[in-house]
Amino acid sequence: MGVLTRYGKYLPVSEKTPAVNLEEGSTPLVRLDRIGGELGIELWAKLEGCNPSGSFKDRGMVLAFAKALEDGARAFVCASTGNTSASAAAYAAHVGAPCYVLLPSGKVALGKLAQALIYGARVISVEGNFDRALEMAREAAELKKIAIVNSVNPYRIISQKTGAWEICETLGQAPDLHVVPVGNAGNISAYWAGYRDFNAWGRISALPKMIGVQAEGAAPLATGKPCPNPETVATAIRIGNPVGAKTAIEAVSGSGGFFETVTDGEILDAQKTLASRAGIFAEPASCATLAGLVKLAAAGKLPGGSKTVIVLTGNGLKDPDAAVSRVGPPVKIGGTLDELLGVMT
Ligand code: F0G
Repeated sequence: MGVLTRYGKYLPVSEKTPAVNLEEGSTPLVRLDRIGGELGIELWAKLEGCNPSGSFKDRGMVLAFAKALEDGARAFVCASTGNTSASAAAYAAHVGAPCYVLLPSGKVALGKLAQALIYGARVISVEGNFDRALEMAREAAELKKIAIVNSVNPYRIISQKTGAWEICETLGQAPDLHVVPVGNAGNISAYWAGYRDFNAWGRISALPKMIGVQAEGAAPLATGKPCPNPETVATAIRIGNPVGAKTAIEAVSGSGGFFETVTDGEILDAQKTLASRAGIFAEPASCATLAGLVKLAAAGKLPGGSKTVIVLTGNGLKDPDAAVSRVGPPVKIGGTLDELLGVMT
């Protein structure tokens, strides 16, 4: 069941809204007992990489496309570190509309670039970082009167709230801690708004503390200062001037939470831990969440037994280079059984 079907009655849709549907949302929430046990908490992972284009962006993109089509839009544009462009390109292909995507040159994981290209978007590589590409996309959308589907589009955030609603429905309550990677700062704002909705509707009685994790080299919110030259292995969150800064700060301070930073090394270690100790392959940006928890636990700042949800925002297959760089190549043998038995130690 897609997001507009499952949650249409809580979203701004009517009979006039086209029923766009790629069966996005309703992603698994998996309990990670081995890793949780080591951290002394009850750990759950929301597998947003199971969405049709492999990231959480599909949740918001479906409503952004439906509402833009309802308003007569014929073409779409976005800037992206990779996942927004993959998602927008997929929905544009599905509804049969042209889509322009602006990507920071040389800084997008190969899987994401392949997605945008094969879905048939017009892919434009911009000499500059994501922040510059987004400025250009906003100006071009205005001039050419086409729909922008970055998270500056309010329907994206409204529909991304469904992630929080699903977590509450599965757990029967909100978690104590909700941990999410922060780039352009839309998703943390959407989750907080979603939890507050469920609280206002009497579906949950307590709200989680929101913990936003940024990469050390791209941490404008954690440090409180803009970051003109963001750099991190987690290219999805390589952003120096987040559009959602204000609402993200409200989410963190309003919930009694905080921002945390992690190094690239900590991110890649957490990626390996998730894969090898839970069987879950998530892209580096997503793994910043677990890296943040590991750091908090080591500092004695993780309250024991906390029910904790990490949002694994994107699929690990999108960025195989990052994973291979951490684990090295396979064992090589010739074609004999003896050699095989020799390496099966
Ligand atoms: N995780 C992944 C895998 C992402 O792709 C992004 C953002 C984030 C986390 C951060 O979410 O921006 O709402 O704070 N990716 C955007 C993109 C910027 O263009 O795909 P945010």
